[in-house]
Formats: sequence, structure tokens, C-alpha cells
Amino acid sequence: MNKLRINNEAETAALGRELAAAAAPGTVIALIGDLGTGKTTLTKAIAEGLCVKETVTSPTFAVIKEYTSGRMPLYHFDVYRLGGAEDMYALGFEEYFYGNGLTVVEWADRIEELLPKDAITIRLDYGQNENERFATRAEGDGHAL
Ligand SMILES: Nc1ncnc2c1ncn2[C@@H]1O[C@H](COP(=O)(O)OP(=O)(O)OP(=O)(O)O)[C@@H](O)[C@H]1O
Ligand SMILES: [Mg+2]
Repeated sequence: MNKLRINNEAETAALGRELAAAAAPGTVIALIGDLGTGKTTLTKAIAEGLCVKETVTSPTFAVIKEYTSGRMPLYHFDVYRLGGAEDMYALGFEEYFYGNGLTVVEWADRIEELLPKDAITIRLDYGQNENERFATRAEGDGHAL
């Protein structure tokens, strides 16, 4: 587990591009953190790192948005408004999580039991000032962050 201090939005973006560079098909990145901590901002940078050409917008209402113009498909979930695991089965989440792309899940703690064992978990926390964040990262069985 490691904890990274982020001083501004540009550093969040740098982390996103780094995550994209390390991603392979089937990688799942589980994002945890309160409202406005930067989960969507991080996802946009991941998309940029994959060279996704479409504009990435928060999938809060859609739950899942798929972008296929990059180096590999990006599956962006926001499960904030989801009822629970049954809804994920109804969406066919396994096709995404275990498919050919990179999956990013905002509010992943809400579907913790469905996350693959080897998911990368990033928890974002507010820091001391408006632009500071802390990103705590765990791989493997780190879902309990
Ligand atoms: N270091 C930082 N990293 C990311 N965002 C930052 C940072 N500093 C300030 N911000 C601001 O915080 C907000 C983060 O919003 P964002 O939509 O990415 O959060 P979120 O975690 O996805 O929220 P939600 O829970 O509503 O989905 C943006 O307005 C962004 O400009
Ligand atoms: Mg968001």
C-alpha cells in the first residue's frame, strides 16, 4: 500500500496517465472517495493516457460509459446511484471487468464484493487545502481501503 500526496489537479492527472500507461486489457481500477475528491478527474486523465479521443463525462446517470477510440477500450462505471449487486449483474458487468479493456469504477466500495481479486484500488481523500488530495493505493486484496 502506498499513500501519495497530491498538490493540485495537474498531479491527479499525472497519476491518471501513469495508471493508463501500466494498464493491460482486463485491468480494473476501483476508485473510492467522497464527493468531489477527484474520481472523475482521475478517470479523464486515464482516458487521456489511453489516447481516448472522445470527451469523457461522468456516467452517474448512465452507470456505464464505453470509449473505444483509445489504445484499448475504456469502461467507465459510476455506481453511485446503483441499487446494488443485482443491478451490476443486469448490466452484465463481467463482460467489462473480465473483457478486453480497462475498467474504472467510481464509488467502487459500493460493489466491493464484485471486484476482481487483482483490482487496483485507489482511495482519494481531501487534504488540508482546496487542491490537496491524498491517493492511497493498494493492489490485490486491498479493497478494504
Ligand atoms: N488535486 C485535485 N485533484 C482532483 N480534483 C481537484 C483537485 N483539486 C481540486 N480539484 C477539483 O475537485 C473537483 C473534483 O471533481 P470530480 O468530479 O473529479 O470528483 P468526483 O470524485 O468524481 O466526484 P463525484 O463523487 O461527484 O463523482 C473538481 O472540481 C476539481 O477541479
Ligand atoms: Mg465523479
